[in-house]
Amino acid sequence: MTNSVVQVEKTLNPKMKPAFDQLSFGTVFTDHMFTMEYTEEQGWHDPKIVPYEPILLDPAAMVFHYGQTVFEGLKAYVTEDEEVLLFRPEENMKRLNRSNDRLCIPAFDEELALSGLRKLIQVDKDWIPNIEGTSLYIRPFIFATQPYLGVAPSKTYRFMIILSPVGAYYKEGINPVKIAVESEFVRAVTGGTGSAKTAGNYAGAMKAQEVAEAKGYSQVLWLDGKEHRYIEEVGAMNVFFKLNGEVVTPELNGSILEGITRKSVIELLQHWDIPITERKISMEELYEAYQSGKLEEAFGTGTAAVISPIGELYWNDKKITINNGEIGELAQRVYDTMTGIQTGRTEDPFGWRM
Ligand code: COI
Repeated sequence: MTNSVVQVEKTLNPKMKPAFDQLSFGTVFTDHMFTMEYTEEQGWHDPKIVPYEPILLDPAAMVFHYGQTVFEGLKAYVTEDEEVLLFRPEENMKRLNRSNDRLCIPAFDEELALSGLRKLIQVDKDWIPNIEGTSLYIRPFIFATQPYLGVAPSKTYRFMIILSPVGAYYKEGINPVKIAVESEFVRAVTGGTGSAKTAGNYAGAMKAQEVAEAKGYSQVLWLDGKEHRYIEEVGAMNVFFKLNGEVVTPELNGSILEGITRKSVIELLQHWDIPITERKISMEELYEAYQSGKLEEAFGTGTAAVISPIGELYWNDKKITINNGEIGELAQRVYDTMTGIQTGRTEDPFGWRM
C-alpha cells in the first residue's frame, strides 16, 4: 500500500442543500466523494476526498461489459449535540471484502476505508439531515476499470464512496406493503452470487419487480432457485415471519444476502428473549400457518428501509392477509428500537453505534 493517508481537496463551489423535510431516496448527492485506485503494481493507493463530480471512464472499462462491481449501503445520523453516528460500519466493510472475494476483486484495507469514510462524512457533515425518518445514506462501491474485452478479472479498479441525504426508501414508509410471491423468476441460486452485494443481482431482479408492480404489488417474495418452494428474500431485503409467537427467518444458504439489519434484528430478538430461528421455511408451511391463524406478522429488513412490514402476500391465486394489513406490534417495536439506537435516541446495549 502506498500513500495511505487520505488527502482532502475541498470544493470551491458548494451546492445548495435540499430541504431536509422533503427528501426522497438517493436523488441528491453531497459536495465531496472518496476515491482510491487499484493497480497490480501499487495495490490500493491514492485514497482521497475530492469535490463530487462526474467521472471519466474508458468505454471498454470492464465494469460495463461483465459487471465486475460490488457495493454497500449504510447510514449516518447526527444527534442534537452534533455528534455523528454510524451503525456497525465495520460490518459493511467486512461484507464489501467478502463480495470482493466472490467477484475476484482485490481486498482493500478496511481500517483505511473506514477512516476515509469518517473523513468524508466530517467534510460533508452539514449534509446529514436531522429530521425524523431521514439520514445520510452512504454508498461505497468498487468497479473494474481496465479497458479490455476479454472475460477475466480486471487488473485495475476504483473504490468510491458517495453520500446522499435521504428520506424513506419506500413511499409507503413503515406502512405495510403488498407483496407478490414470485414463482417464475428467481433472484439467485446456491453457488451463484446471491450472497454478494453485486450489481447483477439487482439488475436481474428488476423484471420480476416490474411485472409485480403492474399487478399492483410493491415487491416480490423470492423463492429458492431450485424448487421454487423455500422463501429467500423480499424485494431487496431479508424477511422475517412471526408464527405462533416464534420468529423465523430463512437460514443463510449462499444465495441469501447476509444483511446487517438482519443480523442486528436477530441479536435484538435474542436480547429480548423472543424465540428466533434461522431455518428453511416453505410457502406451503407459511400458507398453512396462515390458514390455522398462526401467521401473526411478516416484515422485511434492510439498511434503506430498516423495517418494511408486509400486509398482504399473493400466492397461487390466493390472498394472504397478515395482521389485517396493519403494522404488527413486533415490527413496530423492532423499528422503534433499531432507529432509536441508530439515531442516538435510545440506549445502545450492543455497542453498535460508532
Ligand atoms: C437495503 O435494504 O439497504 C438495500 O439493499 C436496498 C438498496 C439496494 C437500496
